[in-house]
Amino acid sequence: MKKFTRVLAVVLALCCVACMFSACGSSKDENVIVFGTNAEFPPFESVVANGVVSSADGTQQYDGIDMAIAVKIAENNGKTAVINNIEFDSLLVALQNGQLDACIAGMTITEDRMKEVDFSIPYYTATQVMIVKEGSDIKTAQDMADKKIAVVQGYTGQTVVEGLGFEFTAFKKGTECVLELVNGKCDVVVIDSATAQKYVADNAGLVIVEDATAFEAEEYGIAVKKGNTELLDMINKEIEAMLADGTISSLAVQYTEAE
Ligand code: ARG
Repeated sequence: MKKFTRVLAVVLALCCVACMFSACGSSKDENVIVFGTNAEFPPFESVVANGVVSSADGTQQYDGIDMAIAVKIAENNGKTAVINNIEFDSLLVALQNGQLDACIAGMTITEDRMKEVDFSIPYYTATQVMIVKEGSDIKTAQDMADKKIAVVQGYTGQTVVEGLGFEFTAFKKGTECVLELVNGKCDVVVIDSATAQKYVADNAGLVIVEDATAFEAEEYGIAVKKGNTELLDMINKEIEAMLADGTISSLAVQYTEAE
């Protein structure tokens, strides 16, 4: 009897562990696509009161270009999009772990990232820019040499500044970088163009400085776990259609003009 109880306990425990693991897997519900993002990146993804998509538990809502794209990809395939909002640095690991089905996060397609995940065809072209205070003497990327530079941890902006060989401080969020700049604690923020425009629009006294020689074009793609060709094909088909019929460019206009 005692032994039976013990065996039962072990079996129950194993069941629990199995359940836990399957709950971790994102693909348990065939009708849901779990998109991972880091919703600190307007106009692509932000946490809002009333958005176009929500977290799995419905407690958080999101809006932005990427969020609208995710919804369309899911809906056009008879599925529901849900958002898992996590740190930007953790997105690719979460994808590899099966915690996410896809990752849509204004994420630049880079060779390093391509070693870890598979990317869709590009859906948006961006570039790094510098945000400075009006009247700053920073006119080119080289002018940052002796300045205090702020970047966001893990963003391509950090990689680019590293490539230039300059010192920098990395922050968790773009808004933290901008606050440093506004408060005079740094001289320049290096971040993606559309997001920079949003920050400049929201904060008086800031301007954007571009340097097309130092900052190359970057292309955003949606990432899936390596080898998930079924989902990738579906995503690529949708992106192709949305590029062809102007959906993505009108979303870009809509979300950059908002507010
Ligand atoms: N494009 C940059 C990169 O790939 C920044 C992306 C940040 N995205 C975000 N959702 N926080 O590193």
